[in-house]
Amino acid sequence: MQSEQSASAEMQISISVDGALRKLDVEPRMLLVQALREKLKVTGPHIGCESGRCGACAVIVDGHAVKACMMLAVQADGKSVITAASLSDNKLGKVLQNKFHEHHALQCGYCTPGMLSAAVDLLANNARPNEEDVRQALRGNLCRCTGYQHIVDAVLDAATSLNTADSREHGVES
Ligand code: FES
Ligand code: FES
Repeated sequence: MQSEQSASAEMQISISVDGALRKLDVEPRMLLVQALREKLKVTGPHIGCESGRCGACAVIVDGHAVKACMMLAVQADGKSVITAASLSDNKLGKVLQNKFHEHHALQCGYCTPGMLSAAVDLLANNARPNEEDVRQALRGNLCRCTGYQHIVDAVLDAATSLNTADSREHGVES
């Protein structure tokens, strides 16, 4: 009885979500995606498989794409979580969102927040990916609608666009 009570006792955690510090009480076993959606009403990360296979729930935790159904909320205590809601606040996220629209890289949009999170992680760590790099980076994200090629094209075009802009800013011919 004692152990059941302590297993379900809530803990207070603090997470920076899309730049705002949020305090919340969670059970130790609550998943990050549940805490975001149910406790904080942050609905950008979607729930698909809840077993790490579809990527619909991916968010950026301390700079890296993470499947929020594979992380406990308590593991995010003290960390920064960026969801699709604030991706356009930085240049990389904004360019990616625009390229997804230009290339028709979304239809129903269910996979899109997770796809964008994976793409932001990729381009933040590899400014000049080739097609294989993009496909590898997105291999944990499933899409039922697009056939993937439009998404890959959007990410490659975003990389080109960002590199061109950087070259101009630094006075370098591309
Ligand atoms: S809901 Fe998290 S990977 Fe599918
Ligand atoms: S756009 Fe529908 S699942 Fe990807």
